[in-house]
Amino acid sequence: ATTSIDLKEEILRLKKERNAVILAHNYQVGEIQDIADYVGDSLGLAYKAQETDCDVIAFCGVHFMAETAKILNPDKTVVLPDKDAGCSLEQSCPADQLEAFLKENAEKNYYVIAYINCSAGVKALCDVICTSGNAVKIVNNAPEDRPILFVPDANLGAWVMEQTGRKMDLWQGSCYVHVEFTRDSINKIKEEYPDALVVAHPECTTAVRLLADEVCSTEKMVDYCKNAPVKNIIVVTESGMLHRLQKEAPDKNLIAGPTDKCACNDCRYMKMNTMEKLRNCLRDLAPTVEMPEKVRARAEAPILRMLEQSK
Ligand code: 13P
Ligand code: SF4
Repeated sequence: ATTSIDLKEEILRLKKERNAVILAHNYQVGEIQDIADYVGDSLGLAYKAQETDCDVIAFCGVHFMAETAKILNPDKTVVLPDKDAGCSLEQSCPADQLEAFLKENAEKNYYVIAYINCSAGVKALCDVICTSGNAVKIVNNAPEDRPILFVPDANLGAWVMEQTGRKMDLWQGSCYVHVEFTRDSINKIKEEYPDALVVAHPECTTAVRLLADEVCSTEKMVDYCKNAPVKNIIVVTESGMLHRLQKEAPDKNLIAGPTDKCACNDCRYMKMNTMEKLRNCLRDLAPTVEMPEKVRARAEAPILRMLEQSK
């Protein structure tokens, strides 16, 4: 809210000069969401990246999201405000470890499904990608005659197994933000708002998910809150989501899900992006996302399969 009008104008001017599109995830700070051309979840952002005819994509999110945009647009310049905006899920599954695991278990002939929160190197080893918005659909589409390996989020994987009835072997990764919500912390806030509905992201633990009235991706939370029959809604995900929800469902009282330590929970990676850094990346056309063409081409196939299957 304290950003100068000059900085906003500079961003809009540079965007025009560069013929750029600004894509932002639902967890970005409010000012970035407000200046973006599109705000959404990982799936919506992947579709927008695929569709754009701009020369430059300024991706305000975390690295794997910008990387996905680059995989789909090898000839475009993809810049991100902070190249160190990582993700604990991505870090929990290094490509060389997955490769070694698949080699050791070659006789299983796994059908590998990767949650989009992973590196291009991991995507290149997989059969299909999914996001929290289409994971149930993608798993339902998996061949019946092969065992499934789901990487890297064990919590999302457990939820999808319940939803689909398909058994899967789960890589033991997790999101450091969503595992901070506990049964105690959510029960406490429910006591304060006994009539509230609870919506939670599937990266939460099973114990927290069981307390939720709805489990869904960040984008689906928008519709859920808009259409909810009550005023009070407890939103168990990263706190940036509240800005988007307040804009889209202004008549609702949206309450951030607390952890045992805090009233709400930020992703430090998502919050590395600032308006200054967004200006700088449009001005300098750096930092950019780059990767070897061989990895890119191998990572593109499972993403395209996902986009095709989740239409
Ligand atoms: P969504 O695709 O639901 O926006 O989730 C992305 C993410 O990083 C959740 O932590
Ligand atoms: Fe990764 Fe979790 Fe941050 Fe999402 S909230 S980007 S899963 S660390």
